[in-house]
Amino acid sequence: MKNNDFILKEFLDNAFNLKSHLMEFLSIEECDLDGFLANAKINLANLHPGDALSDVSDFYTKIVGDGHLADLAAWHITSKDYISDTLKLQQRFSRDLVLDFGGGIGTHALANAMSSKVEHVFFVDINETNRNFVEYRAKELGVEKKITFFKAIEDAQISKFDTIICLDVLEHLADPASQIEIFNEIMDCNSIALLNWYFYKGEKNEYPFHIDDNQIIENFFKTIQSNFLEVFHPILITARAYKKIR
Ligand SMILES: C[S@@+](CC[C@H](N)C(=O)[O-])C[C@H]1O[C@@H](n2cnc3c(N)ncnc32)[C@H](O)[C@@H]1O
Repeated sequence: MKNNDFILKEFLDNAFNLKSHLMEFLSIEECDLDGFLANAKINLANLHPGDALSDVSDFYTKIVGDGHLADLAAWHITSKDYISDTLKLQQRFSRDLVLDFGGGIGTHALANAMSSKVEHVFFVDINETNRNFVEYRAKELGVEKKITFFKAIEDAQISKFDTIICLDVLEHLADPASQIEIFNEIMDCNSIALLNWYFYKGEKNEYPFHIDDNQIIENFFKTIQSNFLEVFHPILITARAYKKIR
């Protein structure tokens, strides 16, 4: 197990060997990697079929493929100060059984698996390529015994999590309010959920896959306010910590 400062330094130095993991996993030559990452955001946006998509989750299961790996990797590398703040936030709260819902390229799940306060990480992501990539990364980083991988929360068969991490995911769901209700059911009075959201498609529709419907957002805020109480932390104002109201 590694201490918190060491884990943050490893992330800031090389994002837990992210570039070499991408090259190996996707069989990309080093000379092609920068171009692959530079075009990732626009390539992902261009994959989105717009209103023709009837089921939101089809984008992640049938269309995205390895496109999200590239987009998330580029983001974690170029915004490493922001991502390291989210790691500091989870270092403050994570303990025992941790659910990482919509875990992406695994930065948060891997960091949690390296922590001595965490017993086990349940990585849930609807995208099979993401799950396979993070499973590969966990083996490379020697934390594979502390992470298991699932397409959906119910597949993990855990009735109560001590910590829930759900960062930059809620805006990708058709009904984020119902996800809050699911989280509420799998927490107890000592559990903490770390959540953020960005219900915005961007100035130039850079995020066509983000939900921005007013009704859905209003329902989300009503649901979060009736289920959770915010727990103050001084680390990152865009991500919140919550406990159950009852
Ligand atoms: C923007 S990424 C965030 C990844 C990671 N949490 C981070 O902060 O870097 C959103 C992730 O949510 C996943 N996702 C989307 N819909 C999902 C669903 N219904 N269930 C589980 N994961 C989902 C996507 O596959 C993607 O990995």
